[in-house]
Amino acid sequence: LEDPHPTIALPHTRRVLEHAAQLLRDGQVVGMPTETVYGLASNALDSAAAQRIFQAKNRPQDNPLIVHVSSLKMLRSMLKDNQIPPVYAELIRTYWPGPLTLLFPRSTLIPNEITCGQATVAVRFPSHPITRALITACDRPLAAPSANSSGKPSPTLASHVMDDLKGKIPMVIDGGQCSFGIESTVVDGLRSPPAILRPGGVTFEQIQKVKGMEHVQVYKKHFTDAAMEQAPTTPGMKYRHYSPEAEVVLVEFVRPSTAEQGSETVSGQYSLILQEIEKLKQEGKRRFGILRTSFSSSATDSHSSGNREITGNGDSAVDRSLDIDVIEFPLGQSSKPEDVARELFRGLRYLDSQNVDCIFVEGISEEDEGLAVMNRVRKAASRTITSEAIEFL
Ligand code: TXA
Ligand code: MG
Repeated sequence: LEDPHPTIALPHTRRVLEHAAQLLRDGQVVGMPTETVYGLASNALDSAAAQRIFQAKNRPQDNPLIVHVSSLKMLRSMLKDNQIPPVYAELIRTYWPGPLTLLFPRSTLIPNEITCGQATVAVRFPSHPITRALITACDRPLAAPSANSSGKPSPTLASHVMDDLKGKIPMVIDGGQCSFGIESTVVDGLRSPPAILRPGGVTFEQIQKVKGMEHVQVYKKHFTDAAMEQAPTTPGMKYRHYSPEAEVVLVEFVRPSTAEQGSETVSGQYSLILQEIEKLKQEGKRRFGILRTSFSSSATDSHSSGNREITGNGDSAVDRSLDIDVIEFPLGQSSKPEDVARELFRGLRYLDSQNVDCIFVEGISEEDEGLAVMNRVRKAASRTITSEAIEFL
């Protein structure tokens, strides 16, 4: 396995990075962009610095951090005997640098504040040029969880980090919107068969195609194998997560049975939401948000409108003459799960900032990036509705 070429930063960026690197070497924490979500970084070899991350985020003490490297050389230097387990060779060749985190036997170099009692350490080699340049400028691995307050949706913009952590951290580097928008895939290749502990930016379908990963296991909602009921997962997955203040309701995607692909489900999910709004209106709820994935591209283009607000007298099933507000935020179409992934956390945060009582999320199928999207939505939702029945979680 050989290292890719290093990234090179422009002079202005270099000054910013040098400032950030100095803070990190001094044991401070810094918000940084990555291709998945914004991370809150600290020197991975410094236990006191790691504790600052837990404080700033109010993170549970038993939830270990991912260590980020900018070269395989840096990774080897942290591993026992400087050896990368052969099981990872093809995965690394194909998906590093990128949104993939791998578990390695824990090295004594990494403080327990980072691994939190696990026998393994999770490592990622990010592809974002700023992240890579920052790690290289520090010349040491950086521990970084997502840069949100614990329990909130992960940040995909620098402003999200500020919303959560302003006054608690000295610096955030603004790298614009994260291109994946959802966290990395966590793979444990030390167990047999290998398992995806957290679905993310590299999909199950992609991993399954990699040599040695043909039998990789992953938990899906409708997984039939009884053994997977005790699905292996990360310590972090047991926490309620990605939750804004408003109640989140998942409107399950039901694949249309035959001929009329798409359109039927589309209107099915939307009209179910309108019915539900009618009910909640009786309970005195007035403001609603919908994260939409079932709209025709001509009517609502995710790249143009941003969001649209419907108030007053609409012509839908909802009687809008009673003053209710329905704010729709287009995530992208269900057929393009990578678009939905990029916008999901931004959409949750946007609707929350609008002080809605309830956020409906139109679910998508658990294929490709859809698996990670639905994993996050299920974590955020307090209940799920389907066209058949309402199912309480
Ligand atoms: O894309 C990402 O992975 C982002 C960016 C910033 O790199 N980071 C991120 O970190 O999502 P965080 O802390 O939000 O999620 C890390 C997940 C948690 O579920 C944690 O429990 C799990 O990785 N994890 C960390 N070390 C582990 C280990 N040794 N074994 C199993 N799971 C581990
Ligand atoms: Mg997180």
